[in-house]
Amino acid sequence: MSNHSFDINCLNAFAQKMVKEKKTAVGFPCNQNVKLADFYHWYAVSGLADVAMNNVGDPRKTSLYALNTHEFENQVIDFFSPLYGFSPGTAWGIVTNGGTDGNNHGIYFGVNALSSYGDTKPILYVSEEAHYSIKRLGELQGLDMRQIPTNVRGEIEVAALEQALDTSRTALIVIAVGTTFKGGIDDQDAIDEMLKRKPPVAVYRHVDAALFGGYLPFTEHADLVNHNKRHFDSIAVSGHKFFGFDEPLGLFITTGDILERQNPFHVSYLNDSVPTISCSRSALAPLKFWWQIHKTGIDGYRRQAELILKNAAYLKQRLDEINYPAWKNDISNTVFFRRPGDRVMKKWSLAPYEDERFGGKLAHDIVMRHEGMNMIDHFIDDLLQDQREGSEATPVSAVPDQSKNE
Ligand SMILES: Cc1ncc(COP(=O)(O)O)c(C=O)c1O
Repeated sequence: MSNHSFDINCLNAFAQKMVKEKKTAVGFPCNQNVKLADFYHWYAVSGLADVAMNNVGDPRKTSLYALNTHEFENQVIDFFSPLYGFSPGTAWGIVTNGGTDGNNHGIYFGVNALSSYGDTKPILYVSEEAHYSIKRLGELQGLDMRQIPTNVRGEIEVAALEQALDTSRTALIVIAVGTTFKGGIDDQDAIDEMLKRKPPVAVYRHVDAALFGGYLPFTEHADLVNHNKRHFDSIAVSGHKFFGFDEPLGLFITTGDILERQNPFHVSYLNDSVPTISCSRSALAPLKFWWQIHKTGIDGYRRQAELILKNAAYLKQRLDEINYPAWKNDISNTVFFRRPGDRVMKKWSLAPYEDERFGGKLAHDIVMRHEGMNMIDHFIDDLLQDQREGSEATPVSAVPDQSKNE
């Protein structure tokens, strides 16, 4: 038999392994409570599994390529725009291929919007604990970048931002609403106050809310991701994090005014101007989002948001009970703690991190919907066993009280 034979047993074994692995995957922000079997069933029987659709072009304009799901993509954006405080009539957005794609659009749209203030590109300001994609994307665009230190919660130090701010240039500020490791939320009010005191030539604010942007709109803290209240220009959110899609996708939303200030790039074969960075875009992702929105609804998302925050609090409480050094920011589903031994790290797919302010080696558990109290109890049992086995320990006394270290 050749190496290229179709071996269904091999595929089945792989599938079984993945289904098993997901039961202990807590270190990355992927919600494993994916419920798309009925969608895929419909997709196959509808005949669409044999159609090559593509969302190339601006979803708000008539595309010459008729095989698209722009209609559903617009409905997804219309559902989310008001939840992020944008006016439904004027907001513009797309279903992206993930948080990084949304950040890429945010930074690119920001550079274009600021270009009317002069030929010099803006300075990109971002915190040291912001996701690496921001730094990568800034580098890609050749932007001068200022990485600003953070406090112990992982929030940008506004005083340090003020000090770094060059008022003679335009400023592109990327605001983290939920940093990757600690779940820190940059203080947008304090940043605004500072910008009023020390205004640069012009400012564009992009919010990276990859994980927290999924659940915050359904909590009492919705204002943190509300354009109307916090005056940011664009926002990026991942779909495979809180929302629980089976593959990377996400949302990018901005205002009609920012869209107007983009390079139109009139592309004749697409019959219109094309604001998106990628040409071909998934037609399947908007359909899945549309399906989920209608199956879940606002109340469903609200319950899910409540659940992950409740379970994150439970995890922190259990860690405190066993006296295990652990920390959690408010309004966060991320608990970080002293890094356990390799066996626990591997079994629970934990991600490593270093921060001397917390005694050095750390790991985190991002409580998504598939991590209920039972799973948390098993995790705690494993940590206790790890302690008994004597994995490297940081004395609790060496670790700062988070509230006193700002
Ligand atoms: C804060 C933050 N921004 C952006 C990203 C990148 O998102 P994606 O993996 O959807 O591209 C992540 C990923 O974990 C993240 O935590």
